[in-house]
Amino acid sequence: MSNKFGMFIHWGVYSIDARHEQALAKYSIPFEEYDKMAMEFNPTEYDPEEWVLLAKKCGMKYITFTAKHHDGFCMWDTKTTDYNIMNTRYAKDVLKMLSDACHKHGMLLSIYYSNPDWHHENAYNPLSSHQYRARNKDAADMDKYKQYIKAQIKELLTNYGEIYTLFWDIPPKIYDPSMNEYVRELMPSILINNRGFDEGDFSTPEREVPQGKRFERMTEACQSLGEQSWGFREDEDYYSKRYLLSSIDKIMAMGGSYLINGGPMPNGKFNKDTTDRFLALGDWYLRMGGVLLDAEADDTGYTLAGKNEYIATKKNGKTYFHFYNGLISSAVHFFECGGKIPKSARLMNSGEPLRLCYDPLPGLSNPDGTAKEVAFSIKDIAVDTYCDEPVVIEVEWK
Ligand code: GLC
Repeated sequence: MSNKFGMFIHWGVYSIDARHEQALAKYSIPFEEYDKMAMEFNPTEYDPEEWVLLAKKCGMKYITFTAKHHDGFCMWDTKTTDYNIMNTRYAKDVLKMLSDACHKHGMLLSIYYSNPDWHHENAYNPLSSHQYRARNKDAADMDKYKQYIKAQIKELLTNYGEIYTLFWDIPPKIYDPSMNEYVRELMPSILINNRGFDEGDFSTPEREVPQGKRFERMTEACQSLGEQSWGFREDEDYYSKRYLLSSIDKIMAMGGSYLINGGPMPNGKFNKDTTDRFLALGDWYLRMGGVLLDAEADDTGYTLAGKNEYIATKKNGKTYFHFYNGLISSAVHFFECGGKIPKSARLMNSGEPLRLCYDPLPGLSNPDGTAKEVAFSIKDIAVDTYCDEPVVIEVEWK
């Protein structure tokens, strides 16, 4: 995916309950009570342009929106079921409003669509890991339910302009490539994730900073700002900015895209904890000056002193050392760098040039006690100024 940074938005009836996007199942809310809550949905302060402008300010290129979550409630004007936004107090197509705002500001729009559906009477699928609830298990009929999915996907992919990616959620564990074929007929340019009826185009590690240095397949890692929920939760435990920043750097340095999620409140606004974290990620991302876009792995056999963890990428002949967990001191010492000679170094966090130095290192001595030779060192790195974020160093070679 050439777009590296996106905003994930979980918003629906569950936002009113303010505990978890799967509250219907997790707190055994009676269906009648949930349906009543659905009809009360009235986000009077919803202004999707605000979301889009926030995403833009953070350097994000796309927004992935929960059109339908596991509760089966549809956030668009659908003809396929009455269980939709047009039958709430709000009675406006929130997806249409969002797609208009995206188009106006050049933001791409992606659709999240849940395979589990706790409302549709034919949708009961015992193979699914999230089939916690069903209104009527006896009516289970996957063929019928797939027709319903197709009818909904058709609306979503024809009435809202270009859709960038399709984020199926919860693999149904039913292999049926005709589903994605249908999606591609409707929208040939679309990228499809691996949580649908086949492996799709890209993988979706979730709330995970994967091991390794490089993704083997097109990957979009998703992460929520809140530890407990994807949807708005009043008593949320937010991830530290430190943790989030190190995850975005590692995932992007591995070649992945990063989809960061916030759950708007029932009134349609993000709370301050959420906005602050989006902005912190955006601020760091923009300071990286685009070096995470189209960066290839730099497989030169580097050997660095010390225990700093890093990933090396390259772009336009320069190498970028991503110290995603920060640095342990104000210098980085290279024992080996494939015979290359550095010309200059720069701290991406600040844009400032860094000092190169070629002295042997007395602190790292050889077995006979003599000072250890290094190929070169990069020194005077403002580690204490940037102790809350990953440190990225650019090296230009001679
Ligand atoms: C998990 C959760 C689901 C959420 C999704 C986002 O699958 O179960 O509720 O929407 O993550 O990727």
